[in-house]
Amino acid sequence: MACAARIREDVAPRIALFQQRYGRPPGLGVVLAGHNPASEVYVRNKIKTVNEAGCRGVLFRLDASASADEALALVRRLNADDAIDGILVQSPLPEGMGAEAETRVFDAVDPSKDVDGFHPCNVGLLVQKRPAPVACTPAGCIELLEREGIQLRGKHAVVLGRSDIVGKPMALLLLHRDATVTVCHSRTPDVAAVARTADILVAAIGRPVFVTADYIKPGATVIDVGINALTAQAEVERIFPEGSRQRAQFAERGSVLVGDVHPDVDAVAGALTPVPGGIGPITVAMVLKNTVTAAELRAARKVAM
Ligand code: GUN
Repeated sequence: MACAARIREDVAPRIALFQQRYGRPPGLGVVLAGHNPASEVYVRNKIKTVNEAGCRGVLFRLDASASADEALALVRRLNADDAIDGILVQSPLPEGMGAEAETRVFDAVDPSKDVDGFHPCNVGLLVQKRPAPVACTPAGCIELLEREGIQLRGKHAVVLGRSDIVGKPMALLLLHRDATVTVCHSRTPDVAAVARTADILVAAIGRPVFVTADYIKPGATVIDVGINALTAQAEVERIFPEGSRQRAQFAERGSVLVGDVHPDVDAVAGALTPVPGGIGPITVAMVLKNTVTAAELRAARKVAM
């Protein structure tokens, strides 16, 4: 069974038990501001997955012209709502909210409801290897590696990208599992040479098919976190052979989704996660898992008080 389905299956009895004990399902409030097309898809998938699993996922929309203060007010309302165990504010927020909006809004989320693991308190706990909600994409990458029995201890893991959402927490999670970790970024000289030393390579840079076969040590495990839409026909034809699924999809829709990793890598790597269908659904399953965990911890805390 695919990893995402196994994660969902594992949390199913926890959801049933929560419902039975507390007379309500674990609740997730998702905040979506504006109409970013990619965010619309991600948020729809998150709410659908959470609801299909027997939780209560509720979408709270804000207009594209909403202010950061309006987003803050909504987050505070969700913090105070006892039937909401998890809060997820979809990133990016509209540019009109201002440069500091994401920091202000993510900081306002009650850390016990922070299913994204973005709150600085939770990031600090992660740094110190203490229990905390962890950002869903890197947490999902670790679930996949562990469930597939990929050894991390003593291995060299290279993370491409240093974002707060993926690169940094990914590096910490690998470090905590005794991997030797290198983080590469846009200022790293000769990224290919560094990547070629990786036993485990995680690509999270948001640049379509950036990682080519010459970046890969034969047999390495490669995790592709990127989800990029290609809209230029010449580029699609350069990357994908005639008769491929991607070319057919481009002809039909005018765009095709690709990862940060070139498909040619598959011939060199020991394992490569596909895009779409690899890390994406696992990330969504981790939103569900983090929601259930937040609900259990909040309920247990209330009983103890
Ligand atoms: N935008 C892209 N990835 C994520 C994520 O994991 N969480 C949130 N809240 N927004 C995102």
